[in-house]
Amino acid sequence: MRLEGKKIPNTFGFDVKADVWLEYESVEELERWIAEGCVASPYLHIGAGSNLLFVKDYKGTVLHSCINDVTITAEDEDKVFVRVGAGVVWDDFVGYCVDHNWYGAENLSLIPGEVGASAVQNIGAYGVEVRDLVSSVETINIQGEKRVYQVDECEYAYRKSLFKQPEMKSVFVTYVNFCLSKKEHYTLDYGTIRQELMKFPAIDLKTLRRVIIDIRESKLPDPKVLGNAGSFFMNPIVPRVQFEELKQQYPSMPYYDVDADRVKIPAGWMIDRCGWKGKALGPAAVHDKQALVLVNLGGAAGKDVIALSDAVRASVREKFGIEIHPEVNFI
Ligand code: EPU
Repeated sequence: MRLEGKKIPNTFGFDVKADVWLEYESVEELERWIAEGCVASPYLHIGAGSNLLFVKDYKGTVLHSCINDVTITAEDEDKVFVRVGAGVVWDDFVGYCVDHNWYGAENLSLIPGEVGASAVQNIGAYGVEVRDLVSSVETINIQGEKRVYQVDECEYAYRKSLFKQPEMKSVFVTYVNFCLSKKEHYTLDYGTIRQELMKFPAIDLKTLRRVIIDIRESKLPDPKVLGNAGSFFMNPIVPRVQFEELKQQYPSMPYYDVDADRVKIPAGWMIDRCGWKGKALGPAAVHDKQALVLVNLGGAAGKDVIALSDAVRASVREKFGIEIHPEVNFI
């Protein structure tokens, strides 16, 4: 499908258009668009627009995958390998895994977005990251060359991957291959998950998915009601020495150990301590239930959210001496 001047889907609810919108349903169709020279520069490949902040209309071609097939490629008693189209809605895939009694993806329930972007962004929640489940990522580049990246080639780190690097802008994810477990196991050590599960007679995949969905729904705004892009900032990783000093001053500061020398501090906690939770700046605001999320109160544009983001960053810098960086990509 090729459209001109189409509104670009984005969960902030900004009114932005693409000069050209190209949507394809198969790798072959994308190959045809490329071979016919229809993907002219500048171009941008998006998923569901759940991690993007558009500052203005996009003067170029926006690509979107509608590759939606899911196929089991191999399985044994312990595990299953499944090949999933980049255009599959992420949470539909999690639901599919849970329905099949495949373990591993359930903590990532209800994360907005699509499968292709999940592997680019290395989405994560409640102690699990998508890299824990990926076996390989299938791609095609702007020259029409296909390449499969094994998981250890994807350079995964917290909210990072090879595919996020600027030089990989011309590489499009077409399928992600996942490996899920058939053996019962759960990741329950994050936050209040164990506590929430006590309300149920037994733990199973469906119950854990329900619990994760309930936690998310209680803290995170529904983009259909209040425009947002989930966590707006990444949690900063700081040297342990710096963390120890801060901990003296703020004994209740939550943290996660990264390695012997580094510690991750929740940006939401710092923003909250700066008094920003629930505060608005023009038509943009810091969410009142989770300070890591910036919301569009209605009628906001990219510049309004950036103004709020700059003000929040300045407060955190001043109070804690820490620079926080947006997780959301500015376009
Ligand atoms: N906190 C506050 N005030 C707030 C928000 C958080 O004090 O307004 C405190 C919490 O009490 C807790 C700590 O900060 O002690 C961490 O909060 P939470 O568990 O809500 O997680 P987070 O670090 O704020 C990260 C991810 C989320 C993910 C959750 C759960 C990032 C950037 N964000 O948030 O991911 O759902 O952990 O695993 O890593 C997303 O990427 O869009 C997203 C929502």
